[in-house]
Amino acid sequence: MRIVLVGPPGAGKGTQAAYLAKNLSIPHISTGDLFRANISQGTELGLRAKSYMDAGQLVPDEVTIGMAQDRMEQPDATGGFLLDGFPRNVAQAEALDEMLKDAGMKIDAVLDLEVPEDEVVKRIAGRRICRNDSAHVFHVEYNAPKKAGVCDTCGGELYQRDDDSEDTVRKRLEVYHTQTEPIIEYYQSQGLVTTISALGTVTEVTQRAMAALPSE
Ligand code: AP5
Ligand code: ZN
Repeated sequence: MRIVLVGPPGAGKGTQAAYLAKNLSIPHISTGDLFRANISQGTELGLRAKSYMDAGQLVPDEVTIGMAQDRMEQPDATGGFLLDGFPRNVAQAEALDEMLKDAGMKIDAVLDLEVPEDEVVKRIAGRRICRNDSAHVFHVEYNAPKKAGVCDTCGGELYQRDDDSEDTVRKRLEVYHTQTEPIIEYYQSQGLVTTISALGTVTEVTQRAMAALPSE
């Protein structure tokens, strides 16, 4: 199955993607995580992406689309994948459709996570992620690690993302509304979107998401 997860910053895309990908035995592909891995490895791509991310802006399509395509072409993704944070504007959605069409494939479902803005702000303010792997995500209150500041999964140090400052979050929300929300309409015209509430516990949201997916 090929799934796209959409939702504002802090909606819980990464948190849900980890569970859904495991349940469905498909890789979780997050362009945000790929950029952060490049930044921590000091690659040229990472250096280029960092200034955009720190400003809450989208990284240019010519960098992002190629990186996402390379990842989707890895052997573990041939049977399906869960995309988190990609596509993020209509040009990326069109590029993805083209890329899949060339391979005789298509997107099967788009899950739109809906969450009020004040909840997003609380979730982002308390988020802590792991130095070893930014897919290891916690919250100081809602999803606290067993030991403060230490990743439950790998023992790595937890830290706050550089782009989680109040000003940058405001900018990311604005970019979401102006550039990313239009892809919901794009996919609605293909009959692919299910909107689910991202409020409630992580497990409740996972259950809603699983129920919204087409049976294979
Ligand atoms: P990216 O990393 O994709 O960030 P984002 O979309 O802003 O989303 P977040 O990671 O902030 O939130 P999330 O929805 O994954 O929430 P999480 O699960 O962590 O992108 C970062 C930047 O990279 C972009 O700004 C851009 O610059 C660049 N970029 C990435 N992709 C790009 C693209 N395609 N094109 C161009 N640029 C791109 O949850 C948040 C917190 O809430 C956590 O602490 C979690 O523990 C907690 N939580 C989760 N679920 C619940 C729940 N049900 N109840 C209570 N707490 C919860
Ligand atoms: Zn970790």
